[in-house]
Amino acid sequence: VKTIAGLEAFLENLGTTSRPTSATVGFVPTMGALHTGHLALIHQARQDCEIVIVSIFVNPLQFGPQEDLTRYPQTLAQDCDLCQTAAVDLVFAPSAAELYLQANPTRVIPPPELTEVLCGLSRPGHFTGVATVVLKLLHLVKPQRAYFGQKDAQQLAIIRRLVADLNLPVKIIAVPIVRESAGLALSSRNQYLTPLEREQARAIFQALNQAQTLFQQGIRDRAALIATVQKHLTQVPTLTLDYVDLVDPRTMQPLEAVQTQGLLATAVYLGPTRLIDNCLLDAC
Ligand code: PAJ
Repeated sequence: VKTIAGLEAFLENLGTTSRPTSATVGFVPTMGALHTGHLALIHQARQDCEIVIVSIFVNPLQFGPQEDLTRYPQTLAQDCDLCQTAAVDLVFAPSAAELYLQANPTRVIPPPELTEVLCGLSRPGHFTGVATVVLKLLHLVKPQRAYFGQKDAQQLAIIRRLVADLNLPVKIIAVPIVRESAGLALSSRNQYLTPLEREQARAIFQALNQAQTLFQQGIRDRAALIATVQKHLTQVPTLTLDYVDLVDPRTMQPLEAVQTQGLLATAVYLGPTRLIDNCLLDAC
């Protein structure tokens, strides 16, 4: 369905509009161009919930003026086929005009300590756009569970905080990163890569893997772990580093050393394409 009215009619027919109800609704928000990473979220929702709703919406509010909003891949018919095969009950694919009545809508601003690190530094306003659209979608879909990928670890932390701070009645479920066999994390933006860039992009996973190996050997400190990733990435001359950082996976605050859990995260540019990846370092 493409309209809020259509979504509401669907929910009403389920008897889920007014709680409490019997059917558990699981929700997977996406921007479409679905791949196996998205499908992992959908499969998890399908396992856990009676009703699975996927949204497909390329949210203009979360793109900066120089970013790829206008060329972001749009493959709605194919996405719907994939959803059908994955036994999704409903795809909600509204237009921007349907979701945003005003050119300058009310926004939800996540706490700066979560946004003034990692991707937030090079994408000002991005997480405000994400938090705003996710809050709207959660209000509209009213799921008991919502599924987010560990691939976007900062987004996940911000959504968890949004849900806690605004007392949203939804459980956030994190799903591990899905990768190509060569290690590259699946992303809709991988479509932008030339075959050569795609090969070069494998260095990202290799770099994180090297740090993970060091970590398993007992190396815990920030400088050593970050330097390993940086060193490996700088071996690819066409790759520009945005950041490599070690943070607490919940608070996004920089860590001097990993005591219990750390998130080692990186963002790089290959040509004009920005790619992100991360790994969780678990000392337990
Ligand atoms: P999008 O990039 O389409 O991603 C939708 C969901 O799929 C996110 O939770 C993301 O973390 C997850 N995902 C993407 N690639 C993945 C992979 N390789 N492995 C596991 N999960 C993966 O993230 C967004 O859209 C938007 O910001 C959104 C939350 C929909 C708000 O507009």
